[in-house]
Amino acid sequence: MPIAFRDVSHVYTLDPKHTRTALSHIDLNLPQGKMIAVIGTTGSGKSTLVQHLNALLLPTSGEVEVDEYTLKHDTKMRFKPLRQKVGLVFQFPEYQLFEETVAKDIAFGPKNFGLDEQEIDRRVHDAIRAVGLDDSFLQRNPLDLSGGQKRRVAIAGVLAMEPKVLVLDEPTAGLDPASAAAMMALFVRYQAQSSDHTVILVTHDMDNVLNYCDHVVVLHEGSLIYTGDTPSFFNSNETMEQAAVLPPACIVMRNALIQHGFTIDVDQVYTEAALAKAIAKEVKR
Ligand SMILES: Nc1ncnc2c1ncn2[C@@H]1O[C@H](COP(=O)(O)OP(=O)(O)OP(=O)(O)O)[C@@H](O)[C@H]1O
Ligand SMILES: [Mg+2]
Repeated sequence: MPIAFRDVSHVYTLDPKHTRTALSHIDLNLPQGKMIAVIGTTGSGKSTLVQHLNALLLPTSGEVEVDEYTLKHDTKMRFKPLRQKVGLVFQFPEYQLFEETVAKDIAFGPKNFGLDEQEIDRRVHDAIRAVGLDDSFLQRNPLDLSGGQKRRVAIAGVLAMEPKVLVLDEPTAGLDPASAAAMMALFVRYQAQSSDHTVILVTHDMDNVLNYCDHVVVLHEGSLIYTGDTPSFFNSNETMEQAAVLPPACIVMRNALIQHGFTIDVDQVYTEAALAKAIAKEVKR
């Protein structure tokens, strides 16, 4: 399912006299069937960018192509079929919950898309387990859950729609490290289920990018400053600096070892496991 931005700008109108440009002339083709990270400092335009993927926002100028849809500033269409294909979990998904039970909340999307009761029930059960909660949560009121549990329920609600493109805006922010790792593993599993599944993840966590993502998109003050594979991103000090990214410890360590005379192939070695292997090889030598 092709996703492309063509000369996309997005300008928010604050009041009749004031505007704010959040995205400026974005040209971007996203690879299919990959884990994609969208990164950049606070206010760089990440949330604005991803909300174009299911037409929550339309471009002020330019066009966004998602599957067979072309979205422009004046596009008028039924957005439901698009939103079935592209599931978006907001930055603060807790605010997405509004039904009186968790089960109803998760069922909302599938119901809205006209699935039968039995299929909805299957999806609700699959989704709650996928996010690491058990069936006992289904009858609880979403408002009585902890922040992390609310977030899982919101993610379950989007998973239950079984979208081809799963877009997550900072899904692990504020979770404890074990929950965050479990959540990342869930997204990787989701992507791996089908070559047609793409996961797009907004994150500030460079370890998530390094360990789980194939492709990186970097925004800076509303402009696109990098799109490419993950190893190349972490090998470009200039891009990292411009994006105000501190490289993950593994990359810092690798580069320091190279500076001290180790021979390490930077195109191959960018995970902890690969670095350990490379060090062992050099030490033996
Ligand atoms: N609803 C809105 N109305 C007006 N301006 C907005 C609105 N939403 C975002 N902006 C502005 O647009 C710019 C981009 O915001 P956006 O939320 O896309 O950034 P972000 O990269 O997601 O930041 P963060 O990492 O803090 O979530 C910022 O200058 C922001 O103040
Ligand atoms: Mg944001």
